[in-house]
Amino acid sequence: MKVLICKSHDAAVERTANMIAAHVRGRSAPVLGLATGGTMLPLYERLAKLHRETDLSFADCSTFNLDEYVGIAPDHPASYHSYMREALFRHVDIDLRRTHLPRGDADDVHVEAESFEARIDAAGGISLQLLGIGQNGHIGFNEPTSSLGSRTRIKTLTESTRTANRQYFGPDETAPRYALTMGVGTILNARECLMLATGSSKAAAVAAMIEGPVSAVCPASALQLHARATVVLDRDAAAGLRLTDYYQHVHPNGEATRFD
Ligand code: F6R
Repeated sequence: MKVLICKSHDAAVERTANMIAAHVRGRSAPVLGLATGGTMLPLYERLAKLHRETDLSFADCSTFNLDEYVGIAPDHPASYHSYMREALFRHVDIDLRRTHLPRGDADDVHVEAESFEARIDAAGGISLQLLGIGQNGHIGFNEPTSSLGSRTRIKTLTESTRTANRQYFGPDETAPRYALTMGVGTILNARECLMLATGSSKAAAVAAMIEGPVSAVCPASALQLHARATVVLDRDAAAGLRLTDYYQHVHPNGEATRFD
């Protein structure tokens, strides 16, 4: 796992945006796996800026989002469909017909999960999977004890995840209990994984993911099994790591080396 510890939150966001931009510029038909959540908002803002101010184009990209709440329609303001439209899609030149999110309002969520996997395969697989991490070590909505071989399916959200996400729902609404999420196995099939984690609230989960045992108790630790996984951190999110000197020695302040 490549561990990049950047000097500040902004530097971590910029580093991640530049890596995504290099990936998109470097291939003819990139297939991006996308994440949602608060951490990704400044990143998508930065990508939109790169699109406005440089030659970065998303016209040839396909995208697959990690997850969506069950029972929530795409036009619900707290849906991840709405999030993606507002945070990224409407600011860049992406072809919306090539953007895919699981439909949480599907009549049969099991059929929807299978069809989502089939659509990823039909697109040739994900070339770069962007990830955030939950305070409990989840990736996508693969909560602790998710099978490390799991595929897209329905997951019951933990109370801590529901509490963290309640802010996006109205006072009279119940935060969803279930989500459709790519599985850990689906994520591990991506040819490259790129995680952005910032802030001290993520420090314990980040330490468990990078330096703890590979365990379903911390689903993000499955990234230790991926041959091309990069984790971009700010100093707060890196605060629980023991081997910081080594990571800084290899990539001072998260910068590239001549072997990257
Ligand atoms: C959502 C997703 C989640 C989030 C995680 C962190 O698509 O992939 O795993 O990345 O819950 O969320 P924030 O960034 O809000 O702390």
